[in-house]
Amino acid sequence: MEHTVALTHTESSEFILSGDLNSLGYLFGGKLVSWIDKVGAISAIRHVRGAVVTLSIDSLIFKKPVTNGSILTIRASVNRAFRHSMEVGVVASTLPPGSKEPVHVCTAYLTFVALDANGKPKDIPPVIPETEAEQRRYDQALIRRNHRLSLAEQLGKGKRPDESPRPPPLP
Ligand SMILES: CC(C)(COP(=O)(O)OP(=O)(O)OC[C@H]1O[C@@H](n2cnc3c(N)ncnc32)[C@H](O)[C@@H]1OP(=O)(O)O)[C@@H](O)C(=O)NCCC(=O)NCCS
Repeated sequence: MEHTVALTHTESSEFILSGDLNSLGYLFGGKLVSWIDKVGAISAIRHVRGAVVTLSIDSLIFKKPVTNGSILTIRASVNRAFRHSMEVGVVASTLPPGSKEPVHVCTAYLTFVALDANGKPKDIPPVIPETEAEQRRYDQALIRRNHRLSLAEQLGKGKRPDESPRPPPLP
């Protein structure tokens, strides 16, 4: 079975309305994070064809505010798969009202873990990069993963205690 990056491409758009805004009149960041998590999870599920949980969202940068009436587009794809985990890259761009040029507003990297029917981490097939950009993201994903694991180890948080309960598997 083929497992290309292209098969994990996921895109979703939102029309930003007044109920989505913070007190400054810009899109509330938590709402954007929730959409990023959802689109990222769909991309990860497309790769493993099964249940996943979000382990981390990092390097999330809000580069530009999103205004009322904008069309926000979120794109995600799996950058690289490891044994039980995979990194998904997410980019959000916006088309402000009356504008023709999309503006890059946010980037984030999410780590998802694939779970088996018992809620235990399960092996993930490798993802195949086919383009130059996919290969670059694939190479950079390893550098970011090494940073995450090395930071967790230095902080003494490399492993969760065995007695910690696991969440039940997703349907
Ligand atoms: C995700 C979860 C199942 C992982 O459990 P765990 O006991 O840490 O499992 P493992 O030690 O086997 O690690 C699983 C994977 O996470 C990776 N991992 C663990 N800590 C990491 C970190 N800080 N950064 C990056 N990857 C990490 C491990 O390297 C492993 O991946 P690999 O096999 O590809 O190397 C567990 O932490 C959990 O249930 N978290 C809650 C998830 C959740 O509720 N999410 C929100 C809603 S979906």
